[in-house]
Amino acid sequence: MRLVLLGAPGAGKGTQAVNLSQKLKVPHISTGDIFRYNIRNGTPLGKMAKEYIDKGGLVPDEVTIGIVKDRLAQKDCSNGFILDGFPRTIPQAESLDSVLLDMGVNLDYAVDIFVPDTEIIRRLSGRRVCPACGMTYHIHFEPPEKDGACNGCGAALIQRDDDREATVLNRLETYHRQTEPLIGYYKAKGRLLVVDGQGKIDETTVKLLKVLGIK
Ligand code: AP5
Ligand code: MG
Ligand code: ZN
Repeated sequence: MRLVLLGAPGAGKGTQAVNLSQKLKVPHISTGDIFRYNIRNGTPLGKMAKEYIDKGGLVPDEVTIGIVKDRLAQKDCSNGFILDGFPRTIPQAESLDSVLLDMGVNLDYAVDIFVPDTEIIRRLSGRRVCPACGMTYHIHFEPPEKDGACNGCGAALIQRDDDREATVLNRLETYHRQTEPLIGYYKAKGRLLVVDGQGKIDETTVKLLKVLGIK
């Protein structure tokens, strides 16, 4: 299955993509994760991306599109993929369409995980991530077994730099202005599915599997 996950920052795209990727046996591709990997490793791409990410804006389209194009060309994407955090602008969505056309495949669905802004702020302020393996936690909603340590690898959990409140507000503004129009874009193409993401993590997973028709 070829999927795009839409939704505001903190809607749960990453959390749900991990579950779906295991279930569907297709790779989870998060442009945010790719940028953070590059930032951690001090690459030129990471240095450039950090300037935009720290302000809560978007990395320029031409950069992001190039990265996704290369990633989708890899072998493990031949049976499908879950794109998390891409596309985020209309030009990115149009580029994805043309990449898929070149590959001779179709996007199955774009799923919007809907969560209102007030809930987003609660989620992002409590989010903690593992810098080593990328697992995501929440201090109240999804706490690790041992305080401050990753369940999977034991590394000390950290807060993402862009989860500070001022940056979160900018990210939300960027989302409403530049990314929310994609809901209409995919609706017009008959590819849009909407899932209420306000419930518990497991409840959202159940709703996602149901709308996607996955047993
Ligand atoms: P990215 O990493 O994509 O950030 P984002 O869209 O802001 O999304 P998040 O990762 O913050 O949230 P999520 O929806 O994955 O939620 P999560 O599952 O973690 O991008 C970062 C930056 O990179 C962007 O701001 C931009 O600058 C740049 N970038 C990335 N892609 C780009 C692109 N295509 N073009 C240009 N620039 C790009 O959940 C959040 C928290 O809530 C967690 O703590 C989780 O445990 C908790 N939680 C999840 N579900 C629930 C639930 N149901 N109930 C309670 N808590 C929950
Ligand atoms: Mg994410
Ligand atoms: Zn870990």
